Amino acid sequence: MDKMISTSWVSVRRERRGRGGEAGHDDERRGRSIVVGLLMVVAAVGGVVVVVEGGNVSYDGRALLIDGQRRVLISGSIHYPRSTPQMWGDLVGKAKDGGLNVIETYVFWNAHEPKQGTYNFEGRFDLVGFLNVVKQADLYVNLRIGPYVCAEWNYGGFPVWLHFIPGIAFRTNNEPFKAEMERFTSKVVEMMKEEKLFYSQGGPIILAQIENEYGNIDYSYGQAGKTYMKWAAEMALGLNTGVPWIMCNQADAPDPIINTCNGFYCDSFEPNSNKKPKMWTENWTGWFQNFGGRRPHRPVEDIAYAVARFYEKGGTFQNYYMYHGGTNFGRSAGGPYITTSYDYDAPLDEFGNVNQPKWGHLKDLHLAIQLCEPALVLQAPTRVGLGSMQEGHIYTNGHDICAAFLANIDTKADATVTFRGLSYHLPAWSVSILPDCKKVVFNTAQVNAQSSRLTTSGVVVDEELQSRKNIMTLSKAAWEIYQEPLGDRAESSFSAKGLLEQINTTKDDSDYLWYSDSVAMDSNGNFTLSVSSLGHALHVFVNQKYLGSASRSGQLKFPLLLNSGSNQLDLLSMTVGLQNYGAFFDTWGAGINDVVLIDAKSGGSHNLSSEAWIYQVGLQGETLRLYEDNGNSKWTSVREVPHHQPMIWYKTTFTADGNDPVLLDLTSMGKGRVWVNGEDIGRHWPENLSPEGGCSSTCAYQGAYYSDKCATNCGKPSQSRYHVPRSWLKDGDNMLVLFEEIGGDPTQIKFLTSFVTSVCARVAQSHAPPLSATQFSDNRPMARIDCGIDRVISGFRFASYGTPQGACGSFSRGGCHAVNSLAVVEEACLGRRACSLIVSNDFFKQNPCTNVLKSLAVEAVCK
Ligand code: GAL
Repeated sequence: MDKMISTSWVSVRRERRGRGGEAGHDDERRGRSIVVGLLMVVAAVGGVVVVVEGGNVSYDGRALLIDGQRRVLISGSIHYPRSTPQMWGDLVGKAKDGGLNVIETYVFWNAHEPKQGTYNFEGRFDLVGFLNVVKQADLYVNLRIGPYVCAEWNYGGFPVWLHFIPGIAFRTNNEPFKAEMERFTSKVVEMMKEEKLFYSQGGPIILAQIENEYGNIDYSYGQAGKTYMKWAAEMALGLNTGVPWIMCNQADAPDPIINTCNGFYCDSFEPNSNKKPKMWTENWTGWFQNFGGRRPHRPVEDIAYAVARFYEKGGTFQNYYMYHGGTNFGRSAGGPYITTSYDYDAPLDEFGNVNQPKWGHLKDLHLAIQLCEPALVLQAPTRVGLGSMQEGHIYTNGHDICAAFLANIDTKADATVTFRGLSYHLPAWSVSILPDCKKVVFNTAQVNAQSSRLTTSGVVVDEELQSRKNIMTLSKAAWEIYQEPLGDRAESSFSAKGLLEQINTTKDDSDYLWYSDSVAMDSNGNFTLSVSSLGHALHVFVNQKYLGSASRSGQLKFPLLLNSGSNQLDLLSMTVGLQNYGAFFDTWGAGINDVVLIDAKSGGSHNLSSEAWIYQVGLQGETLRLYEDNGNSKWTSVREVPHHQPMIWYKTTFTADGNDPVLLDLTSMGKGRVWVNGEDIGRHWPENLSPEGGCSSTCAYQGAYYSDKCATNCGKPSQSRYHVPRSWLKDGDNMLVLFEEIGGDPTQIKFLTSFVTSVCARVAQSHAPPLSATQFSDNRPMARIDCGIDRVISGFRFASYGTPQGACGSFSRGGCHAVNSLAVVEEACLGRRACSLIVSNDFFKQNPCTNVLKSLAVEAVCK
């Protein structure tokens, strides 16, 4: 007989399915536990009404409660459209292996509703598919619906068509906006309900977020902003998801919505009610990158410090933003100027490799925190002073359960403190974790995890690719080109008086907008062309010749020679990702807003701004869809490939083999777009270099991190390598299409693959033994070397037990060195996939120096 299913919203207090030992650890706050809701599925089976319940998520002042149990949760952001469905399983698996129990993602409105009422939940945008991958892995989900998401995503996730709804004003008390926001939010919630994805229905979603950091900017919207925020809260609550709602960076989030913290540190944050748990929705693991910016790097010792401080001081939910950053494919990057790579220096790199030692050190941290969970869920911690810059926090029931965190917040000096009669050494800016209040199992500044030789896990060139059976061959002989026409095309251009704002004109259908005009002259003359632009970038052509380019906004000046007669002026203005953050960000304009010709001799000026200009949205190549394999006859085969010429489309084929992640090295190109087999890889702009200064060869983890600290890649292209997902490649010929705006040499393009070539470890005698292998190491510090599933350790570039110096890739011996260091590690490791090296005199069968703290440093080659 058919099941009759009906859903109803009930607000009931459920019996806790208490774990043994739970009862009796009650505290005052728990008594005020708020049960947010429970969705019950009532099924009539064979005439008997059976109540099929999903789980229950609620919260109190200490933690989220899942099925009545307070939980310590560790979460990581993975944004589904920033990788491919073929990558999702591996990414989520690595997140789970790294010790996470929650995956956080935004929902990207403009990806799902490219045209009003036309939806796309396919491929990379298969939200349900992604959540099911997380469910399969038995992890929870924090679904950040927004629908404003920021996220360095085009227009902060809003569809650009929203801007054209009459009378609309975004993120304020505006009826047309609220109607659209409610419609999309409800659609997402309904979709989740239909797929039974809320925890209350047996699914993985334990939390949902409405809006995003509105509290950062709401003052700009005045009273209407406050009204909007309350409306958003009520609207969300009215959707009856059965799980708690959160608002991040919203100090006045109305009950029962939980306000959460975003930032590099959140240990000092307190929610706006003692009935709400202390939650951290964005712990930035690095930072995003801009074209023209340096490459950000956040040391893992500092991330671990921030996380340990948070749990030390009462936090119970923490999320890494990002755990996997991935790629801004196509035109999805926000901006302006966000790079195509959204690597973020996250624990999983752009291509899905573990970014070591970040991933491994955080995994060890998570194991330590999880050992403390029985104590952490008891009640708020008690502080103990340990020194002027040192403090500890204890979680205990006063009997058999006790966990402690000991912190040294001094940015310079190590400290030795006494805690419960025992002495503990605390490196500067570090936290030690003692799950039994006695033994240190982890210190945030002592990294046991191995590191990779190169930050991108080893990127090598063609010759070495062969050895990994990753063979990429560009068929250099066969290039085809298409010359993009300059300026307007009669069939699709239009004329308007004055200079039009770009986004209102293109509706973001394309990055490109041509502004064309002609200037009549009596005689030849030298002029300066002064162009004011709101950005984001501009190329100037006069009489079909490329004159120069500019990026960013402001006034730009170009010298030019005008001929007697008619002169053709074609200005190509382009957006590089629409603004995604700030008050009224949706109204920020782009494009040219003033054009003046200044006579070089007389200094007299002629303003062209209010003339009738001819406009052309987009490129001919875009209209022809040259990036598709559609048998387009517009292509011309060439023997000599034109190079360093502007406005050319290039096409060639290549073959691919192997399994490692593929990168396209476009260092030889200028600026444009690139496609592989019709898939949009994104914007490239290798010509845009990061500043010469501001990078540091050494990076001190001690002291508060900020996004420019420890940056790298100065003076080099901000992004020269572009991710080509494996699943976009096929056997046989693959098609590569590039559009180059300024000029480059496509014959110099390279394919690279990314894999680990060597791994390093450096572990001191003072380190805590590895949590995952205490038995094997017999409670002694240990270095572990792992080359991954299909490689073995083929040799050592360096091995020294003693006082080695330097970092991975540049280790050197110190004054103390055990002569048999290499022999011992070779015996333990050669020919193996992975091996463990104990940092002790026993293991090395000698003591190379007495009364000195020794460490082991190794660099192993993986083949
Ligand atoms: C936050 C925002 C995120 C992201 C982050 C920086 O303010 O909530 O969406 O933009 O900054 O990466």
